[in-house]
Amino acid sequence: MFMTRILIRNCHQKAAKEIERASNILVMAGAGLSTPSGIPDFRTPGSGVYDNLKKFNLPYPEAIFDIRYFRSKPEPFYEWAKEFFPGVNYQPNDAHWFIKRLHDHQKLLRLFTQNIDGLERITDLPDEKLVFAHGSFSTASCTFCGSNADIDTVKASILKDEVPYCTQCSGLVKPDIVFFGENLPIRFFTLQDADPELADLLICIGTSLEVYPFANLADLVPDNVVRVLINRDTVGSFGRRKSDIILNGDIIDIVHKLEKEINW
Ligand code: APR
Ligand code: ZN
Repeated sequence: MFMTRILIRNCHQKAAKEIERASNILVMAGAGLSTPSGIPDFRTPGSGVYDNLKKFNLPYPEAIFDIRYFRSKPEPFYEWAKEFFPGVNYQPNDAHWFIKRLHDHQKLLRLFTQNIDGLERITDLPDEKLVFAHGSFSTASCTFCGSNADIDTVKASILKDEVPYCTQCSGLVKPDIVFFGENLPIRFFTLQDADPELADLLICIGTSLEVYPFANLADLVPDNVVRVLINRDTVGSFGRRKSDIILNGDIIDIVHKLEKEINW
């Protein structure tokens, strides 16, 4: 037990040193970043979204975010969105503020997030530092003709259990979150090509790295770039590179330890 405690402490110290050295940190985040804010992630057994969809009678859990299923049966998604719609009840947590502090110390190259809760924006990270790889609830559009829709009108319909239809073609309207079967935003691909070559450190936080093409990002940084994983469990290709620094455990606990070592 004593040995592991020293080993864990060393990993935090090593990661802190890398953060102090770096000035172009590429951060990639998933739903685990927002669970301390009270928003369930997708795959944690028991609490994850995919374990709590039984009432929708879906053919498989991810169907709720599958564009083909949505077109035939939109109600489950709207009912889920009614509960989830990012509102006043969710606030950024210390892990969001840790990423903001990277930016404040001129160390953040970019934050690629899979999260649609918009909490990164509430920390005042500038849009040019952000890539919402799986879209967000800040806009809405028609799934048929692509026309923009007013997100407040869409939100009001969803909160009243009404299905929002397009005013141009009467197609189904949804918030601009990326469903399975839809393309990620162009911005993701443009910056996915450029940023890994510019990064001098990668931090991967709170994701299972189960979903591509987002998960690819962790393998696109050159071999000489150190990768730090902050996650309950080891995921993706982490551990395959000798220089990987793996910090398993609770995100908030890890972030607090890092900030203590960095003396922020
Ligand atoms: N501390 C540390 N790790 C945590 C914490 C926490 N408090 N909470 C969750 N995690 C970890 C989980 O153990 C898991 O490894 O974060 C990871 C979250 O993984 P997922 O639930 O799969 O979420 P994510 O990786 O963001 O999913 C990717 O899947 O359904 C799609 O579009 C959806 O963007 C989502 C994508
Ligand atoms: Zn339309």
